[in-house]
Amino acid sequence: MQFIPYSLYPTFIRPFLFLADAETAHGIIMTGAKLCSKRPLLKLFKQEVAYRPVTVMGLNFKNPIGLAAGLDKNGEAIDFFGALGFGHIEVGTVTPKPQDGNPKPRMFRIKSAQGIINRMGFNNKGVDYLVNNLKKRKYQGILGVSIGKNETTPIENALDDYLICMRKVYEYADYIAVNISCPNTPDLTKLQAKEPLLKLIKPLKEEQAKLQEKFSKYVPLVVKISPDLSDDMLNTICEICLEVKVDGITCTNTTTQREPIHGLEHASEWGGLSGEPLRALSNLTLQKVNDNLKGAIPIIGVGGVSNIISAKEKLNNGASLVQLYSSLVYRGPNVVKSIVDNL
Ligand SMILES: Cc1cc2nc3c(=O)[nH]c(=O)nc-3n(C[C@H](O)[C@H](O)[C@H](O)COP(=O)(O)O)c2cc1C
Repeated sequence: MQFIPYSLYPTFIRPFLFLADAETAHGIIMTGAKLCSKRPLLKLFKQEVAYRPVTVMGLNFKNPIGLAAGLDKNGEAIDFFGALGFGHIEVGTVTPKPQDGNPKPRMFRIKSAQGIINRMGFNNKGVDYLVNNLKKRKYQGILGVSIGKNETTPIENALDDYLICMRKVYEYADYIAVNISCPNTPDLTKLQAKEPLLKLIKPLKEEQAKLQEKFSKYVPLVVKISPDLSDDMLNTICEICLEVKVDGITCTNTTTQREPIHGLEHASEWGGLSGEPLRALSNLTLQKVNDNLKGAIPIIGVGGVSNIISAKEKLNNGASLVQLYSSLVYRGPNVVKSIVDNL
């Protein structure tokens, strides 16, 4: 039985959360979510959603809607988010060593546009802490782990960081997402260029083969890309992903573009823009990648999904799975049910 009527979130919970700044509100939610991840409390927060099974990358999802990376960076509330009805949860982005991220304030609500600008900078408690939480999870759905590099690691040595994370999480993850598109870690997005991408992805695929042997388990490798790439770069990325047999592509991370929110409060803050103002740009990237790949590699669509219409836009444009983050802030957990039930 669901004890909390999530449809009341916009009227009764959001106004209180929005009294605090965006990161404080996020902290309140995470503290509550961690607490509620414990049984028997979890039962009170469970949201029943329709069963809409899909098989993607050889994995069986109970529905195609997932939680995007960045909300539960340390995997501290997997069971809570799982109870909301997500078919998959992507935790992270995690780095080998813990790091504080950028100075605060670093998260801003663009309320009138239902958007968020963030420049968190991969604040996380490190891969060992995350792995500990992965071991404890009860959530039965698909669990993705997003991996990245520490800010202090020179970009030329990025591969080392991705390998450290990959080796540590492999046994406990259902898929691994390689985050090379966060605009808030210096030079990270440069890894999307031809040479650096090949030098990163090829060894990661080789490592995947070794780890498959070691653990007798194949964990798909997904690459998450930016919505700010030129057509040439998008084509090159698709080419490389096909060549090295990447298992999935996530379109997209946040954008550094500001046109959709020009003149609105906080529009001049630097960082990645997400939510409704990202939707059109993210969909365009998805369409271009889909036109290029023609179904050869599954696509995870993310960026501006807040209802059944925007979720279907992703699916109709070639995505096999859909993720969301910002709409959870604006619409609350009901967004998951309202999408899944109507698929
Ligand atoms: C505060 C915040 C932190 C994020 N952190 C990460 C991250 O660590 N790794 C990542 O791959 N994406 C991160 N993202 C991007 C989301 O996963 C997603 O790609 C993006 O927000 C677009 O989806 P949305 O419009 O539904 O929010 C973050 C987004 C936000 C708003």
